[in-house]
Amino acid sequence: MKNRTKLIEVALPLEAINEEASRRKRKAPGGYPTTLHKWWAQRPVAAARAVIFAQMVDDPSTYTAELRSDPKLLQRAKSAFRARLKVWEEARLLSEKAKGSGLLVPEPGPSPTLEDVLADLERQRLFRIIEDLVLWDNTKNEQVLRAARDEIWASWRRACADNADHPSATALFNRNKLPAFHDPFAGSGALPLEAQRLGLESYASDLNPVAVLINKAAIEIPPKFAGKPPVNPDARKNKNLFTRQWKGAEGLADDVRFYGQWMRDEAEKRIGRLYPQVAVSTEMAKSRPDLKPYVGRNLNVIAWLWVRTVKSPNPAFAQVGVPLASTFMLSTKSGKEVHVEPVIESGRYRFTVKIGKPMSSGMKAGTTAGKRAAFTCLMSGVPISYSHIRTEGAAGRMGMRLMAIVAEGERGRIYLSPTAEHENVANEAKPQWAPDLRLEGKCRVNVSNYGMDTFGDLFTARQLVTLTTFTDLLRETCERVKADALACGFADDGKPLRDGGTQATAYAEAVSVYLSMSVSRLADYGSALATWRSKDNAMRSSLPKQAIQMSWDFAEGSPFGSSSSGFSECVYVVSKAIDAALCGGGIGTAEQANVSDVSLAQGRPPVVSTDPPYYDNISYADLSDFFYVWLRRSLRPIYADLFGTLAVPKVEELVATPYRHASKTGAEAFFLDGMTKAMERLAEHAHPAFPVTIYYAFKQSESDDDEGTASTGWDTFLEAVIKAGFGISGTWPMRTEGDNRSVGIDSNALASSIVLVCRPRSASAQAVTRRDFITALKAELPQALAHLQRGNIAPVDLAQAAIGPGMAIYSNYSSVIDAGGGKLSVREALALINETLDEALAEQEGDFDSDSRWALTWFEQSGFDEGEYGIAEQLSKAKVTSVAGLVDAGIVESKRGRVRLFRPEELPVDWDPETDPRLTAWEMVHHLIRVLAKDGEAGAAVLLRKLGAKAEVSRELCYRLYTLCERKKRATEALAYNGLVQSWPEIVRLAREAPGSAEPEQGELL
Ligand SMILES: C[S@@+](CC[C@H](N)C(=O)[O-])C[C@H]1O[C@@H](n2cnc3c(N)ncnc32)[C@H](O)[C@@H]1O
Repeated sequence: MKNRTKLIEVALPLEAINEEASRRKRKAPGGYPTTLHKWWAQRPVAAARAVIFAQMVDDPSTYTAELRSDPKLLQRAKSAFRARLKVWEEARLLSEKAKGSGLLVPEPGPSPTLEDVLADLERQRLFRIIEDLVLWDNTKNEQVLRAARDEIWASWRRACADNADHPSATALFNRNKLPAFHDPFAGSGALPLEAQRLGLESYASDLNPVAVLINKAAIEIPPKFAGKPPVNPDARKNKNLFTRQWKGAEGLADDVRFYGQWMRDEAEKRIGRLYPQVAVSTEMAKSRPDLKPYVGRNLNVIAWLWVRTVKSPNPAFAQVGVPLASTFMLSTKSGKEVHVEPVIESGRYRFTVKIGKPMSSGMKAGTTAGKRAAFTCLMSGVPISYSHIRTEGAAGRMGMRLMAIVAEGERGRIYLSPTAEHENVANEAKPQWAPDLRLEGKCRVNVSNYGMDTFGDLFTARQLVTLTTFTDLLRETCERVKADALACGFADDGKPLRDGGTQATAYAEAVSVYLSMSVSRLADYGSALATWRSKDNAMRSSLPKQAIQMSWDFAEGSPFGSSSSGFSECVYVVSKAIDAALCGGGIGTAEQANVSDVSLAQGRPPVVSTDPPYYDNISYADLSDFFYVWLRRSLRPIYADLFGTLAVPKVEELVATPYRHASKTGAEAFFLDGMTKAMERLAEHAHPAFPVTIYYAFKQSESDDDEGTASTGWDTFLEAVIKAGFGISGTWPMRTEGDNRSVGIDSNALASSIVLVCRPRSASAQAVTRRDFITALKAELPQALAHLQRGNIAPVDLAQAAIGPGMAIYSNYSSVIDAGGGKLSVREALALINETLDEALAEQEGDFDSDSRWALTWFEQSGFDEGEYGIAEQLSKAKVTSVAGLVDAGIVESKRGRVRLFRPEELPVDWDPETDPRLTAWEMVHHLIRVLAKDGEAGAAVLLRKLGAKAEVSRELCYRLYTLCERKKRATEALAYNGLVQSWPEIVRLAREAPGSAEPEQGELL
């Protein structure tokens, strides 16, 4: 078979992809696919699009003959080639001359060819297509999408022509039909959705029924009803229905909004009495002048803020349920502070809401008392231990008290003291049903420690009534939609969605699917784990982290209000995603399947891009039961098989959770075995003309040695990939994870994941010795490292990302033999890769000025602490500088025989690099950090403009500093260096766009 190298195996416009990916990760715009339903580790659109495109498109070096036939391109290439040859010739002469003179001038590489230049020019053209394609704003830009699809087709036709004589040409190379796409670990469908947009028939499978449902909603359902107008009576009344064109899934989205509103109104009729307005009385306004304008008015409630209580451990107050508040602050917005004050009277307490910050330090009582002591008793001040809380929780004695009511004011949210009426009405709710599924998973689910054992326990009685009312209403809604669809001309064929129906029954079910997803959102904002964000005066969802975590105080939002917890808002968010993100291409299919049973071929081998679970990082099954219990209740009649089991299947889930496999070793063996089988399946079934791309994001805090070189998550995964017969033909760090600027360096959260580009290992792969392997690492890693840094990899991920190029070397040997004749394991290979990386980083020091090199070594030894003058002076000799010079440079303070480096916050605010006669990389980094902390990215951009191109070296210094801090466990400083690099693209963008900036220079093409 003739196989062409793909673009992703040679080059990618990484910065453009990562910039867009991280921007959207930081804040998802309305309609972004991730807003369709909660999922964990969702890939950003930019990465998904770029990776699938570049794995399908040929690298231009494989079709230069074709390029030569374009006269204009040839002419441009010829002139660029002449210029390049001239530069090369000069470099060669210089290096010749230098020989024997003692000067070290490196020889230039091989002389350029016209072919290289043609390929480079063409690559730049493909890069422009990718740069447009990755932008979220171009999601519906047909011109941009067409350009990308045309390129995919052009490469496909080349593959078909190359392989016209292949014995399986009919099955494998049909020039009129692109291969299908399959992601067998589809999650929330980010990759299948973008493959569909690129014109591929898309298949998604996942073990988890919630994930499968999301994929059905993302790729399977919308194309069935593409271009159809809505059926709801409002739309039918409206002339627009006939005059406007309903594109893609717009009609479906309109119906979701309409019937969602109907559900909301109907629910309000049934249970609205449980969510009363709050009346502002004269009494309330007595001590709160800000409430005066509201006296006599009834205000809509946004949320009721509750605190959990337990019996005081002090026997004198054993009858009092004392509060366990994480804080008494309700609003921490500067100038708009509001807090709750507990008032103790006659052996009891009540809460009152006050404007401003608390006056007394006594406010600490009742709130968290630090990690060990848990809380202090509000009544007596005695410590309340976690074990006491656990015992009380397990005995069912944990209670709750209303702390405050948040209502809709004229100009924003207002906080009111709790009232007995509001507390009572909540307690009146009598749920008819509650999910009795038990919570599982120890480390990610800590609520069971406190007596919350079932999913029903995660909700208040009122929330249970609400969610059951909405799920019950879904059935009625489905009937309504069907009746309206029939009235609009849909046929009454009775064929359901799951059997390929496209008429009235199926349409009504389709609308119900999206409404049930809106109920999921209602549950996410409507459990007793949802909290109040005092910084923004808004609700925080129940599962902001990859865990089901206890919340001591919680916010019970109103389902009828206008905030995130309101059903109208939930429906709006889902419908916006339907409108904006879905229905971008052809057919899609989503199925529930274990990766090891999945029939990847679907009749013809697919292109595969996938994102398997990251060892033990996320327990999807344990977490998604939170939604499953509600979805099952409403969707079982529609997807009987998918929601057939009582809970999300767990046994086959490919995560290394010790609690499911008796031990850590058991979990590791299960993961390795399962992942190897999965990878073997991918290698066997993927279309042979394309590499397979695999995302992997993992940073293991647990490591087997002090150096932190071994990480079970990575080496087990890589071992599976290599065992399955894959060789790695490329690795790309992608900014796919959340912004981790505020995450501690010990956490195993990553900012980037690595995309491994894999091809079946060549049958002629050689066995080499350990020495050969080391030599190859030393030759190739420094360049790969520089490449990663240019791609702005977060320093926190650098060591992890460097595994990629190292593994590319290792995985393409049939084996690496160590001195004893045994095979070098993946773990040993990883250790060697890390060693070489360390050396390469140290070598980069040569790029810094003498003062900065001195500062680096000093920082390594002493950080920002003082040290002896004598040592500083001695070191300065070795670095060709002097302490006096360093003082002049503004880097250090030297007093009374002691020397220390200035911390960023101590540096002069009026520093101007343009007038600094001794500008150093060290100063640039630390001033940028100072300004970034104080004035944010916009402020840093102003400074960066002044620094100009000189600043680039400071990014390199940041990597070095981060690595030092990580080794020395200086977490605070490490975060600052990591943060600067992560903000770099944004700072550069702002600096470029600042008024008065010169037009950005056109990137030199060659
Ligand atoms: C990293 S996530 C995929 C995330 C996805 N790319 C996205 O953007 O949302 C990994 C997925 O693998 C699924 N999974 C775990 N074990 C599986 C198995 N044995 N077979 C199929 N899927 C499995 C999980 O349910 C999870 O959805």
